[in-house]
Amino acid sequence: MNFPIYIDNKIYIDYLTNVLGVPETNIVNIYPKEPTFFIYKESGLHFVINSPQKKIIHIDFLKGQMGWRLRRPDHETLLKKALGKKKDNLTILDGTAGFLSDTLIFLALGHKVIACEQSRVLFMLLNDAIHRARDELIFLTNLDLVHGNAVDIYKNTKNIDLIYLDPMYPDNKKNNARSGVMNDIKNILEIEAITNLEDQIFFDFKKQEFKKIVLKRPIKSKIIDRNLNYQVKGKSTRFDVYI
Ligand SMILES: C[S@@+](CC[C@H](N)C(=O)[O-])C[C@H]1O[C@@H](n2cnc3c(N)ncnc32)[C@H](O)[C@@H]1O
Repeated sequence: MNFPIYIDNKIYIDYLTNVLGVPETNIVNIYPKEPTFFIYKESGLHFVINSPQKKIIHIDFLKGQMGWRLRRPDHETLLKKALGKKKDNLTILDGTAGFLSDTLIFLALGHKVIACEQSRVLFMLLNDAIHRARDELIFLTNLDLVHGNAVDIYKNTKNIDLIYLDPMYPDNKKNNARSGVMNDIKNILEIEAITNLEDQIFFDFKKQEFKKIVLKRPIKSKIIDRNLNYQVKGKSTRFDVYI
């Protein structure tokens, strides 16, 4: 699905076409009438959703909670435990990039990450956020962000130490801590008509050869495959580890 990108200044065309790979025919200078479209301005790329409620989605790794977490990655004890005791730097395939929060922590801890995202809209927002942050977040050179189905990408990739999966949680009022960002992701997937099969991605990966899968789950949710090796538990989240 191709959404128009509205710009009010021609100077952005070069960045959009050459860096973000947007076809020039998608760039418009008349404010779109469509219910959903992108706006590109000095602060970066924004995705506008006009109905049922107006919402503008924008990703900035340097601000807010993400910026704060990235300044103190050593405090990420739960994620660190989930990755395991091995001291070496790992090559991780994050099959569920989303807003890239977990990937950014892995990178900040010194690992390499191939992050996969099936949503074209999220991929474009992330790509733009990466370009804006790359001078400050040097570790972004260890990131390869790929658009597509994570299982297909994995089949064409070698030497992955760990597969990390954070599928959408089933709807549950108790998952409020995640709900802001998760609602944005859910809205985007609905607009792009991407069916969200929640656990399916785990079972698809389980059929492949792998060294280790780390599956993020709400703390009280049922175990979806009893053959797990161990769990790392936090207050609201747990990681089920399959080796
Ligand atoms: C719950 S979000 C992940 C949030 C992410 N861990 C973060 O830190 O922001 C799940 C994401 O995985 C993506 N996804 C789900 N299945 C996928 C697949 N098979 N291939 C690529 N992306 C997938 C969805 O589009 C969605 O953006």
